[in-house]
Amino acid sequence: MDIINKKILLVGGGGFIGHNLALYLKDKNAIPYIVDSLSVNNLYSINKEEVKNKNLYSSILNNRVEILNKKGIKSIIKDARNHEDILKIYQEIDPDIIIHLAAVSHANKSNKDPHSTFDNSLRTLENTLDFARLKKKHVIYLSSSMVYGNFDGKEVDEDTTCNPIGVYGTLKLSGELIVKAYSSVFDIPYTIIRPSALYGERCVSRRVGQIFIENAIQDLDIEINGSGEEKLDFTYIEDLLQGIYKSCTSQNSINQIFNITYGNSRKLSELAELLKSEFPKVNINYAGRDKFIPERGTLNVSKAKELLDYAPQFNLEKGYIKYIKWYKNFWKNL
Ligand SMILES: NC(=O)c1ccc[n+]([C@@H]2O[C@H](COP(=O)([O-])OP(=O)(O)OC[C@H]3O[C@@H](n4cnc5c(N)ncnc54)[C@H](O)[C@@H]3O)[C@@H](O)[C@H]2O)c1
Repeated sequence: MDIINKKILLVGGGGFIGHNLALYLKDKNAIPYIVDSLSVNNLYSINKEEVKNKNLYSSILNNRVEILNKKGIKSIIKDARNHEDILKIYQEIDPDIIIHLAAVSHANKSNKDPHSTFDNSLRTLENTLDFARLKKKHVIYLSSSMVYGNFDGKEVDEDTTCNPIGVYGTLKLSGELIVKAYSSVFDIPYTIIRPSALYGERCVSRRVGQIFIENAIQDLDIEINGSGEEKLDFTYIEDLLQGIYKSCTSQNSINQIFNITYGNSRKLSELAELLKSEFPKVNINYAGRDKFIPERGTLNVSKAKELLDYAPQFNLEKGYIKYIKWYKNFWKNL
């Protein structure tokens, strides 16, 4: 399916994945529309949070807005929880495809604030589906590898039984079930995408790869939770964007679930070694791990390769070093 001049609504599109996706889709000559409150892990909330490097994050978030404006991408600042208001906006946009990204997208935050996670993740999703059922438009839902729970040392594919632990993974799986229920009752075409351990330009979510770089730039030690042997399927943002784009353009994506990752897990200690190649003086310390974060590993991406012609391009050596170089440059120009 061609998406040239197709309108693509990105709910929660002002976030890390969403704004990068809007830029990617625009380059493919689609017409992305962002709807975002900018109030969760974004411009209007960052000053209220007790996080380090607030000024840095404000600069990064402002940089997102500047780039989007420069590219002429339309952003509507609105809370997607308000059913009446938001459906009017969706109707005005009249999208061909809807990509649902809005959520509290961090497992630690979700466990600390389940109420807000439920509201911003599932209330917003139901509004998206309530609109989609009227128009029968393709809905793409961003789920997570956290739906699987502990991988028990094995690779997981889309048929692996889901046993999430903690609030985040459980709500992500609930979202998948709601999407599938609306699809079967109202005949909405859907695609569910399960990414994992993403990293890349303009992320402010403070996941491990980002914190490592920020500490190293400031000559601070880095801390690894656990022994360093733990493995994650680190995925550079551009590989995920390719997978989402192919889900928009291929009929094979309809009513399917896909793992979209690099497809090869790597140890945290390997990530730290790569960091050391760019910051030779950095010190590494080890600390205890959070029991509500499942032990993960490789997500098998054969299904996406076969059905969507998905072809991930960025191993950790290529993607992480590219990200580090971007960070150094951004920091220099602050
Ligand atoms: N980044 C990852 O590693 C990763 C991995 C797996 C899954 N995901 C999923 O992908 C999606 C996007 O993740 P992200 O990394 O871009 O997160 P993010 O926090 O950067 O972006 C989420 C966006 O949703 C918006 N939002 C939240 N509640 C809203 C509401 N009520 N109304 C309007 N906008 C609202 C926020 O303002 C924010 O801009 C999430 O659903 C997340 O669970 C992310």
